[in-house]
This record gives sequence, C-alpha cells and structure tokens, in this order.
Amino acid sequence: MPVDRLDRRLSVAPMMDWTDRHCRYFLRQFSPTALLYTEMVVARALVHGDRHRLLAFSAAEQPLALQLGGSDPRELAMAARLGEDFGYLEINLNVGCPSDRVQGGQFGACLMDHPALVADCVAAIRQAVSLPVTVKTRIGIDDREDEQFLEAFVRPVAEAGCATFIIHARKAILSGLTPKQNREIPPLNHERACWLKARFPGLEVILNGGLVGAGDIRPFRSRLDGFMIGRAAYHDPWVLSALHRELIDPDFAAPECDDIVARMAEYAGSRLAEGVPLRAITRHMLGMMNGRPGARAWRRLLSESAAQPGADGKLLQQALRAVEAASY
Ligand SMILES: Cc1cc2nc3c(=O)[nH]c(=O)nc-3n(C[C@H](O)[C@H](O)[C@H](O)COP(=O)(O)O)c2cc1C
Repeated sequence: MPVDRLDRRLSVAPMMDWTDRHCRYFLRQFSPTALLYTEMVVARALVHGDRHRLLAFSAAEQPLALQLGGSDPRELAMAARLGEDFGYLEINLNVGCPSDRVQGGQFGACLMDHPALVADCVAAIRQAVSLPVTVKTRIGIDDREDEQFLEAFVRPVAEAGCATFIIHARKAILSGLTPKQNREIPPLNHERACWLKARFPGLEVILNGGLVGAGDIRPFRSRLDGFMIGRAAYHDPWVLSALHRELIDPDFAAPECDDIVARMAEYAGSRLAEGVPLRAITRHMLGMMNGRPGARAWRRLLSESAAQPGADGKLLQQALRAVEAASY
C-alpha cells in the first residue's frame, strides 16, 4: 500500500472539545501546512445527525483530516463519504481513546484487541472514498504492550489498506483511569514507534505523545515520518511555528501578533453573524500571549469580557492593546 502525498511531517492531534473549527482556524495562523485533525466525530452521530454542525469548516483551515470513531464498517463507510463530500483530505480512525463511553460503543483503544474488525473497517472506508485512510492508535492496552501485540494489530490493518499509523506512544488502561489520566500515567515509549517503523519500513509512522519542542523531536527525525503535537500546541500555539521552522521550512518567519489578531477579529465577525458566541472562538486563544507582560489581561478579556452580551471582534483588538501597553 503506497503512502499517499499528504504532508504529515507536522500535525496537530485530534482533541475532543478543543480542536473544533474555531480552534483549527486559529492554529492555522501559526503553521500554513501542519495537518490539522478534527475532534473525534462518532460515525453514527454523523450518519444520523446534523452533518453541517459536525463537519463544516472554513477553507482556510485546510489541510484537514477527519477523525472518526466507530466500529461498524458500514456506518464508518457512510460517515467517511460525508467527510469526503465536505472536502476533508484524510479519514482517520480512532483506536486510541480509552474513555468508558467509547468502550461502551465498541470503539477507541479497546479495538486494538480486535484487529480483524479494524481491518474490516479500514477496508470498508477505503472502498467508500478515494481519500487516504489512517489509524491513530496506542502501543498497547492493559497488560499487553509487547511488540508482538502491536505487530498483530498493525499487520492486518495495514494489509486492509492503512499505510499511515499515528502512534500515541503509551498504552491505554481500559478501566480505572480517566481519559486524562490515560494521557499522563502510562509511561511514554517513543522507541516503540521507531521499532514499528523499522519492522514495517513501507508504512508511514507518525509519533505522538509528550512532544513539546524541537528538542523532543530531533532524536527521532531520521527514524520516523512525522510528528503530531497535541496539548503543547493548544496551550502555546507558537510551538507550532517553531516546529514548522524545524520540520518544514527553516526560513519560515513566525507570524506577527497583530496580523493574527486582525485575522481572528475578521473571522469572529463572520462567525458572530451566524450566531456563534465570541467566547466559542476566544476560548482557544488564551495561551497566545503566555510568558509576555499583559498575558493576564489578555486571558481575562478573552474569557470574562468575551462572555458579556454584545461582545464582538473588537474585543480582540482591545486585548492586544492591553498586551502592548503592558510591554512598554
Ligand atoms: C482534551 C483532549 C481531547 C482529546 N481527544 C481526542 C480525540 O478525540 N481523539 C483522539 O484520537 N485523541 C484525543 N486526544 C489525545 C490526543 O490526540 C493525543 O494523542 C494526546 O493528547 C497525546 O499527545 P500530546 O502529549 O501531544 O498532547 C485528546 C487529548 C486531549 C488533551
């Protein structure tokens, strides 16, 4: 299965409740090409629910990948087709989320134990769309975290047509830990992703988990195909600009704050006209000024003042002026 041509050297992780369309529009300001993933969209909800609400995005967010959750091949195929119709460039299947709710629906990390079913899902999606189909997975579940377990999962899924595996390089513990604890307590094992790449050199292997800056990535650059950043990019979006320079373009100049604010104010204007509250946009921007004088005023204006009735995009300019005033 040849790897497709989407550039996955740098991507931003799917994060439920965080990487919605407003967040992605904002993060796009910091890297022109990082591949951005949606939050997980449950295939069943998409097939039976409000497609526009679940899938709509702005063209400026591209390149975009749609992450689906589910384990019913037919439903996943239908959901993937909707994603293709909306213009997403990749369909990703979630085999990494450990939450109870997700296990109840038979999807997420518990599917690592059902490689044949995941292979069926991948095959069904591939039949339904002409987009690349990728899988995001952990390195193991519960007490099964040896190389054989990972290989037994990856091999049939790759044979079914998945050429790209995104490896959140820690196992998932399926009961007893909250999803948040499951992103912190099982230790990271980045070397296991390198092992997978060496075992399956024809696959594209993307590393995820605990990566913050260029220093975390350098030891793996020559051994892996790309790097996916989650929390670090959300809390400090400048990380994305630094990694864009490191991984994609050494001449890339980080964007100017006032340009970003101007674009976000304009974006907010368009969304407000559709009934989106300003706070739904500004909540993703709180980390932008971290470490600068005036960061507290920025956060306060973008959280409290943005929630006031009548707040609009002008608040962003006001918050920027507060930061600039604090810098003098
Ligand atoms: C708030 C939050 C929501 C998440 N939701 C998803 C999700 O919907 N799908 C998924 O595959 N992973 C999800 N994850 C996991 C991330 O994609 C990523 O694998 C994890 O945070 C490790 O990467 P990081 O250390 O760079 O944050 C979520 C993580 C966070 C913090």
